[in-house]
Amino acid sequence: MKAVVLGTGGWGTALALVLLDNGHDVTLWSRTPAKAAELEKTRENPLLKGVPLPEGLKITGDLSCLEGAELAVSAPPSFAVRETGKRIAPYLGRDTVLVSVSKGIERNTNLRMSQVLREAAGSACRIVALSGPSHAEEVGLRLPTGCVAACPEREAARFVQEAFMNENFRVYTSYDIVGVELAAALKNVIALSCGICAGLGFQDNTKALLMTRAMAEITRLGEHMGGQRRTFGGLAGVGDLIVTCTSMHSRNNRAGILIGQGKSVQEAMEAVGAVVEGYYAAESVHQLAGREGVEMPICRCAYEVLYQGRAARDVVPELMGRAGKDELLGTAWL
Ligand SMILES: NC(=O)c1ccc[n+]([C@@H]2O[C@H](COP(=O)([O-])OP(=O)(O)OC[C@H]3O[C@@H](n4cnc5c(N)ncnc54)[C@H](O)[C@@H]3O)[C@@H](O)[C@H]2O)c1
Repeated sequence: MKAVVLGTGGWGTALALVLLDNGHDVTLWSRTPAKAAELEKTRENPLLKGVPLPEGLKITGDLSCLEGAELAVSAPPSFAVRETGKRIAPYLGRDTVLVSVSKGIERNTNLRMSQVLREAAGSACRIVALSGPSHAEEVGLRLPTGCVAACPEREAARFVQEAFMNENFRVYTSYDIVGVELAAALKNVIALSCGICAGLGFQDNTKALLMTRAMAEITRLGEHMGGQRRTFGGLAGVGDLIVTCTSMHSRNNRAGILIGQGKSVQEAMEAVGAVVEGYYAAESVHQLAGREGVEMPICRCAYEVLYQGRAARDVVPELMGRAGKDELLGTAWL
């Protein structure tokens, strides 16, 4: 099958390798021709150190590589999804299945990534969201990993499952694209909060408390917006939450730790040196919670710390001092 991966970040590159391992004809597209030339020369992406890019992987800066592609994978950071969608629109065929792997909510519009792609790239092709607990670094090393391919059209989800699935990369299908995309984006806010919690010096009990109760919050919001509750207990939800909150691969976690240790938000983001999606997602969640009338105390506190200069340590007594609740009343995510 002819496949194109759009974006030479860690994730786009790792997914291109999965497709190549499966015997597909794969092209990796970079929006900057210089980056394409560099990768062609070095045959290694610095974001996936020690993972060679085999000669069989085509690398280009020319979007005409999309002509005749059956599968196109959109892998820019979430803020660049609209721009990427607009650029690729003229090259997409009616039969191309477009796979969205960016995790985020678009700023200002609060749209999910597949909705942004639909608006930007047009209505012709089918769009599948692929998400789950999957650090690019580990996928590049061919370590066992699982994701979920979500689309209301089951045939399209199965097509993506077949394209990616191999002995190192397990893919489940789901019809719940709304839940999968919301879980993927919203959990970044929890990862950032969990990092802040660790940076403040709290330990395992506190992090587990935060992760579980924050998951209850985002499940409430996700359900309100049309997602399935069970999705939040699956790979794109709790699976991704575990991997993001417990790993130093996670930029959200790392940025949070620095903020908890006293760095300003800007200093922390600069120190991480790459897009911290949870920072932007925190603003979207705040707006969506207000719009949907969903109570999200942890996400609200995260917003106040990240955007309103509130000291992280000050939110702890507020959250711990909330009135007693029953755990099962309207909050369980399984
Ligand atoms: N890194 C991971 O392990 C991982 C895993 C799962 C999902 N994701 C998601 O995949 C998306 C991409 O992640 P990544 O880690 O590969 O990101 P990255 O920041 O390393 O790379 C993004 C790539 O997108 C491309 N791009 C296109 N337009 C761009 C623009 N305007 N500005 C900057 N870059 C632009 C560039 O090639 C860039 O290298 C994110 O939404 C992320 O949440 C990442």
